[in-house]
Amino acid sequence: MNVLIIGSGGREHAFAWKISQSSLCKKLVIAPGNGGTQDLGLNIYVDPNDFPSIKEICIEHNIDIIIVGPEDPLVNGIHDFFKSDDKLKEIIVIGPCIRGAKLEGSKEFAKEFMQKYNIPTARYKSFTIDNIEQGMTYLEEISSPYVLKVDGLAAGKGVLILDRLDEAKNELREIIVNKKFGDAGSTVVVEEYLTGIELSVFVLTDGKSYKILPSAKDYKRVGENDTGLNTGGMGAISPVPFVDRFFMDKLDREIIIPTIKGLNSENILYQGFIFIGLMVSNGNAKVIEYNVRMGDPETEVVIPRIKSDLLNLLLGIGNGSFSEIDFDISEKTAATVILTSGGYPEKYQTGYGISGIEDADNSLVFHSGTKLNNKELITNGGRVLAVTSIANSIEAAVKKSMESCNKIKFNQKYYRKDIGKDLL
Ligand code: AMP
Ligand code: GLY
Repeated sequence: MNVLIIGSGGREHAFAWKISQSSLCKKLVIAPGNGGTQDLGLNIYVDPNDFPSIKEICIEHNIDIIIVGPEDPLVNGIHDFFKSDDKLKEIIVIGPCIRGAKLEGSKEFAKEFMQKYNIPTARYKSFTIDNIEQGMTYLEEISSPYVLKVDGLAAGKGVLILDRLDEAKNELREIIVNKKFGDAGSTVVVEEYLTGIELSVFVLTDGKSYKILPSAKDYKRVGENDTGLNTGGMGAISPVPFVDRFFMDKLDREIIIPTIKGLNSENILYQGFIFIGLMVSNGNAKVIEYNVRMGDPETEVVIPRIKSDLLNLLLGIGNGSFSEIDFDISEKTAATVILTSGGYPEKYQTGYGISGIEDADNSLVFHSGTKLNNKELITNGGRVLAVTSIANSIEAAVKKSMESCNKIKFNQKYYRKDIGKDLL
């Protein structure tokens, strides 16, 4: 089989690493890929939203299956583009159709979906320019902190959590009237603030049956002890100790099954990953958000724990055998620590040489923001490398990753040294 992975982050490197181990994989293309994926397959530069160019790649390389890493191409309809093109329609697309992708592409759609199918989530109301004054009144009625969510995609910056009423009112106006987030903010969801522990749960589905992937905890804030600005993720741990069989059964009943059933009731063809972001309090989970893809950096701890042939499972989605394929997960713990460019998620410099990866041989080093410049590996993003280690405990896995992080060198390297500590 010839496989095309779309995307350029640590998530896509982890996919490429796993898929390249499959005996079913004949050719692997990563578009655009990064400095790490090029050792596993052929990197071809493309904008993930440039569907005609992706079509050319598929034809030239006789691609049988594409795995869509990031959300934008899904929200922009890559699945439907393939299925409506005579030359592409036989290619298996891992990633939902455009209507399914609305679970991530529209917060309002996701909230309506959850309400309709009785899926536990925070109470909410949504507002536009037409009822913004009601939005102001609603903010007065609820209590602090105020959670404002821009309806559309906003590069991970579309959730605002504000302590003061005047700030919340001001932001609501900035987003809706002054278009702070452009059209993505034409509608704003205002919702109840949830407390508890965040957890990411991943499901792989062919639309009818599904398999629950390893759960993970992501560390979103840039600073230690969860302080400072939100980032794409500074580290992750899998499994999460409090996620036991009892909890998963409840989650399955209350959230996963209703989600799959809801998609079916809406006649939404969903073949791919569902990432359910949860807030857990006293053993009860509420959905914070759906994403229609795998998480990054969660993928870098989830994928290494999958023992089964992932490509075989994904092909099963296309050929109808998915529900019959065995799915094995390792009992071990995976920890990943993200090495970032100092300054991220705000301003940072790139282009610095990276050394020492070969010394970090107790870990799997997935590249996020790297590229090759005349054979020299250089930094090329805020999140540079995901350093994953596998061991028998969180403590041991984190220790291995910390040792590896120490060995890898680049200018202005920064990483959190407390990943996993809260779970010990
Ligand atoms: P998102 O960009 O949707 O991943 O949201 C960013 C972060 O905002 C989440 O990871 C949560 O930490 C936080 N968040 C979102 N919604 C809520 C909520 N209703 N209550 C508390 N925290 C929330
Ligand atoms: N780590 C969170 C995300 O991928 O959205």
